[in-house]
Order: sequence, then structure tokens, then C-alpha cells
Amino acid sequence: MHAAQPRTPVTGPEPAFSIHTAGRWSSKRRDFMRVLGAGAGLAALGQLAGCGGGDGGGVAFAATIPTAADALRIRLLQDEAFWTQVQGMFVLNPAKTFMNIGTAGSMPKLVLDLFDEENRAKARESASGYTDLMDQRKALAPAFGVDPDELALSANTSSGMCHAILGLDWKSGDVVVTTNHEHGGGDTPLRIAQARHGIEVSRVELPVGNAQRASDYANLFEQRILELRNAGKRVRAMMWSSPTYKTGTMLPIEELMAVVRKYELISIVDGAHLPGMMHYDYARLGMDFMSGAGHKWQCGPGSTGILIVRNKIRTAANPLPLPKWYPVHTSSFAKPMERSTNETASFDIAAQVSVCGSMHLPLWNGLVKAGQLWDQIGRKKIETYDLTLASYLKERIAEKWGVDRLYSPKDDPRLLSAITSFNPFVNPADVTNKEKSASFVARLMSDHAPGFLIRNVDVPVIGSEARHWVVRVSTHLWADAADIDRLVDAMWATSRAMA
Ligand SMILES: Cc1ncc(COP(=O)(O)O)c(C=O)c1O
Repeated sequence: MHAAQPRTPVTGPEPAFSIHTAGRWSSKRRDFMRVLGAGAGLAALGQLAGCGGGDGGGVAFAATIPTAADALRIRLLQDEAFWTQVQGMFVLNPAKTFMNIGTAGSMPKLVLDLFDEENRAKARESASGYTDLMDQRKALAPAFGVDPDELALSANTSSGMCHAILGLDWKSGDVVVTTNHEHGGGDTPLRIAQARHGIEVSRVELPVGNAQRASDYANLFEQRILELRNAGKRVRAMMWSSPTYKTGTMLPIEELMAVVRKYELISIVDGAHLPGMMHYDYARLGMDFMSGAGHKWQCGPGSTGILIVRNKIRTAANPLPLPKWYPVHTSSFAKPMERSTNETASFDIAAQVSVCGSMHLPLWNGLVKAGQLWDQIGRKKIETYDLTLASYLKERIAEKWGVDRLYSPKDDPRLLSAITSFNPFVNPADVTNKEKSASFVARLMSDHAPGFLIRNVDVPVIGSEARHWVVRVSTHLWADAADIDRLVDAMWATSRAMA
């Protein structure tokens, strides 16, 4: 059986890798035929091939209704040759299956080669690191929909959140409305601002599971803002994670930005997982700050992050005035710091965030290289693949364990990310057992070959005194449908062995 050509060609100036995969297709092709042979998915295949630009259009398929999982599996297999080629870009240890990308990504070979070469050249030439990183910002900014003065380079998400939050001119009594599912990376600077400036932090309690809709979030925040205002409080900002690291719920940025505009608030998004996973246009979204990692889904070097900072007024996205802000960690401070009141930037705010003394250029060139590879593969294509893979996992979990075991939403597309959290235990009450949850994660690695690298995470759940220790799986472009099948079987077996 010969390889099908990928349906979407690699775009960009120079292909980074060959897309010819003849000879690597057959076993999975048989798998594909097995799914079809089981009678599942023919109707959906027609539909999916149509919307995916495939070659199935016009064929009159039998009207067999596939399960949602079957339909997603077929969609993943349609482009499998392409993704097998992408998997070949990485040096991941074959003895493990890496499904904790929410914690750490992995540099592709081409990034490693460049990083290595540049480190050696820097050492050979004793090269200076004094730069405004403009070339690197120029190279990265278009993929995020912004200008180079709006894309700052930070050490990671936590560093970006510190730049954003600690740079604002807080007044005692200012209230920030946030959630009870925030990561320490964003929570820590909030707590510093509480201690230092006397701000107040008001947390909405987030729902978990599939029975939720994007509109719930706007209501949740708006209701809290109104309560606070009625109590005479001065609500000044909203801060939230999209997605949260606990349940992978993509708090809907567009819906929440409508609340931000309505109540004239400063907007801060902990977007640790956004760069490299989701293809967002930040100029259109219009938040004041979005702090993301370069080292997670974007697969750049460690200690790299991307902080998007609103630095000009784009009326359609966000007509609110730019908030007063001072750099807190910089060697570039040019007064006056007057912020722009129109569509032209008044100064290069991203330089003030990015530059603090001598910089290690190979890091940033490595991040640029990773960004270029993502552009070549296609950022939307990566987003679609990551979300499809996660949706497939969610459907398989729902089939085997029941949908109520999911802590991540699966049915509202606006809430989806590539992070999946759920309760795998035979006795559902065991989800509050921290040790059992840690042991489940350890056994996923030790009891299977190759073992699976996943993690657990504590989730505050409305109505539960104890935190729930769910397991969290985050899959990226080196995993495929067969990996998900193996993972589901392994998690099922381990949960039974631990009953
Ligand atoms: C939502 C969220 N925010 C912040 C962080 C911290 O990320 P970093 O290591 O890039 O600072 C993480 C890490 O997992 C996260 O999930």
C-alpha cells in the first residue's frame, strides 16, 4: 500500500523536512481500514473528507453513524503520513511516550542544531549579548498578529506575568477579578501586588467537566464585577488563564474581552499554553497582556517566553486607553513613558520588557527557528491537529469511563484546548486521594513499555471540601491516534490494577 500525499502541503519558503513517506504508512493504513471495516465512520468520512479538502467528496456513502471517537480517529488518520514526518523532527526518547507538554516541550533537531552551532560560535568569538532583540521580535511577531513593539521576549510565562502585573500602577483598594484555578506563575505577582500596593483579589469559582458553555464565563465574571461594584469596590482588572493548567478549559478570550471592554478594565491573560498550540491573532483579541511560554508547545529552548503587550489603540479590538505601566526588570528605560492614545506606538514597550543587560542570543534565535518551523508546518494546522487529538482522547474516556469523569469540557468548541484532565479511578471517590493519584501517574510510566509521561494536578471543585487530584494528559504533534489508543488501554488497565 502506498502513502497518500498529505492533504495540506507544508507552506513556507523552504520545506524543513521531506513530506514523502512511502513505506511508513502500511501498518497504520491497515488500522484505518480496520476502523472502516468495523462499519464505523463512512458517513462521517464523507463529511470530514469534504471539509478537510480530501478526495472523498461526491461519493455516496452508506449512512452508518459512527461514534464521535471513530469520526475523530478517521480524521486523524487522514493526515497521518504528514504527522509521521513531523514526528521525525524530534529527538524524543523512544522508551517513553511524552504526554505532558503542558509542563515542557522538546526542541526539534533543527532548533538544537542551530542552538548548538550558535553557542559554539558565541564561545569561539566571545560574542557580545547587548542587543534590543529587534530582529528576533520582527521574525516572531507576524505569526502572533502583532508588531515587533508588541511582542516582548521574556524568560517564561511566570516572568511575563511578573513584567505585566508588577509594572502596573496599582492603587490601594484596586480589585483584580480572577479565578480559583490560576497557576502560581500568575498568582505570585498578584500576591506581591496585594502585599505591596494593597490591591484586592476576588476569585470566581470555576466549573469543571463537560456541562459548561463559553457564555457561562462572561456571566461568571460580570456577575462578580457587579457585586463588587455594588459593594462600592473599584474593580480595575481581570486576570485569567486561557487555558487553565488544571482542567485545560480554554476560558473564552473573546467573550471575556467583551466584559473587559464593557467595564473598562485592564486585561491580563496567563496564556502559558497558547504559543505553539493555538493560532491566535492577538491584535484582534486586544488584551493588554498575554504571557505565554516559548519552551512548552512552541518547543523553543528552555527559559524562553513570549509576552504580548498592547502598545497602540486598535479601536475595533479594544478602544480602552492603554494602562500606565513601568518596566520592572530592564536596562532600557527612556522617559517619558506616555502611552499612545492612537494607532501609533509612542515607544517600544517590548524592548523595555525584553532587554535586561547582556542577552543570550542563541536562546532567542532558537525560539525564532522553532517559530519558523511552526509557520512552515502551518500554525492553524497544528492547532487543528492538537485539538482533534485531545477531542479523540476525551471521547475515548467518555466511552470507557463515562463523560462525568472528564474535568475538561469536550462539547463546546470555544472551550477546547489540547489538555485533558479526568478521574480514572474505579472508585470515583479516590480522586481526592493525593497519594493514589501520584501512584497512578508513576505506574503509567513504570508498568508500561514504552511508559507514558503524564502528570496529576489538584483541582478545587465547587461543592467539594477536598481538592480533586485528577490526572492530566497533554498531547502534541508527535503523538497520534495509536498513541491515544495505547494510553487509554494503559490507563484502563492501571486503574483496574489499583482498584
Ligand atoms: C497556566 C500556567 N501559567 C504559568 C505557568 C508557568 O509556566 P513557565 O514555566 O513558562 O513560567 C504554567 C506552567 O505549567 C501554567 O500552566
